[in-house]
Amino acid sequence: MNLREFIAQTRDRGWLVTVEDEADPNLEMARILNAHDGQPVLFTRVKNWPYPIVAGVCSDRAYFALALGVPPERLLFALAEAVAHPVSPPLVDTAPCQEVIEPKVDLTALPILHHLPGDAGPYVTAGVLVIKDPNHGRNVAFHRLLRLDEHHFAVRLVEGRGTDTAWRKVQGDLEVAICLGAPIQVLIAAATSPPKGVDELSIAHALAPMPLVKCRTGDLEVPTECEFVLEGRLTHQMVAEGPFIDLTETWDIVRQQPVIEIDCITHRRQPIYQALLPGKLEHKLLMGLPREPTIYAAVNEVCDCRNVCLTAGGMYWLHAVVQIAKRHPDDGRRAIEAAFRGHTSLKHVVVVDEDVDLFDPAAVEWAIATRFQAGRGLMVLENQPSSSLDPSATHVPGQKARTSKLGLDATIPWIAPDGHLRSEEERAAFRRVEYES
Ligand SMILES: Cc1cc2nc3c(=O)[nH]c(=O)nc-3n(C[C@H](O)[C@H](O)[C@H](O)COP(=O)(O)O)c2cc1C
Repeated sequence: MNLREFIAQTRDRGWLVTVEDEADPNLEMARILNAHDGQPVLFTRVKNWPYPIVAGVCSDRAYFALALGVPPERLLFALAEAVAHPVSPPLVDTAPCQEVIEPKVDLTALPILHHLPGDAGPYVTAGVLVIKDPNHGRNVAFHRLLRLDEHHFAVRLVEGRGTDTAWRKVQGDLEVAICLGAPIQVLIAAATSPPKGVDELSIAHALAPMPLVKCRTGDLEVPTECEFVLEGRLTHQMVAEGPFIDLTETWDIVRQQPVIEIDCITHRRQPIYQALLPGKLEHKLLMGLPREPTIYAAVNEVCDCRNVCLTAGGMYWLHAVVQIAKRHPDDGRRAIEAAFRGHTSLKHVVVVDEDVDLFDPAAVEWAIATRFQAGRGLMVLENQPSSSLDPSATHVPGQKARTSKLGLDATIPWIAPDGHLRSEEERAAFRRVEYES
């Protein structure tokens, strides 16, 4: 689903917040977006810019579900299927994203949001970068972009990720296309880290069909229905990047990062600029959603996994609820261990039975209250590899951070305190009594 269809559909459902008073991309819009975190927001009058700005597109599972045409609880399965069976998109000759080719590159004319007074400057936050790795082919990923001047951005490349490894391999410049306002399936695909050589645009096309078009200046292809495409080169010139708010809602530090030089800007007629509030729900959800299938796959290797949910309080990154169909007294413990293998940044996990709604925090807490005993259902793993994002982990420069991990087996305990295996009838006594509807 492209951005315009998404705006129309969310408006029809009454989900879209429309801001009709003039709003300023310089500090004001971020404040408004923060007040509406979790909702799509359309700014129809933008200071010093003639077209609308949309944000919050990815800030709830319901929006992905709408865009992909699947129920929210089935998103994991749709994504897993697309990653397992990517489909190469067709290439076409003409595209909406090339309706207008700007005669002159001027990044200062774009309505790039300055989010917080402490930021290094205005940042593009919903930009999806397309590059080609000399060995592995196309890579597509989000990277935040600090606007430096009319032609240049500083780009944050996390070490070891696809764009970074490709950039380190080439001596000269690496061609790059920055897609702004990309179709929703591209946004979710760009947030996945599939095995090397698997193309994220083919994952996007498997999620929902969308053709590609060749860039005007380089040997790259981009989705035809982007609002803007900024074509350029990732250079080896380094510059200070940051400070900027991180996923944890704490400040990320200043680092020397590469400069991107933009050579050509194309866009749709009356283009819609897409913003994304960094650190908040859509940043977190986009990061986390692609990890749910990897946790699911790992847990499914050891028992019957039914679903996985990374939770908002754990930044959709550090905390998960795993739902299993328990068939063995030990399945809860096995599921905990497997979940940590499926997402190495995971820190705390709760395992629940099939009858517990894993998307409802109160239901999960109820399972902990009525089925969990710390003496037998708690698993603590000391000194484990950790997410670099956890401020409470042990951080040593140049080394992977370390943390303690915690798993709670909140499934119905099959072994009774006296050691006997509970009968099916005894286990049924743990189920919630439901009122008739
Ligand atoms: C909103 C958002 C912003 C992100 N910003 C950055 C960034 O600035 N730098 C970076 O290296 N990764 C960033 N990421 C993470 C990558 O886009 C993501 O991990 C991607 O899966 C990397 O895949 P790759 O290893 O295939 O390149 C961001 C992700 C999201 C969802």
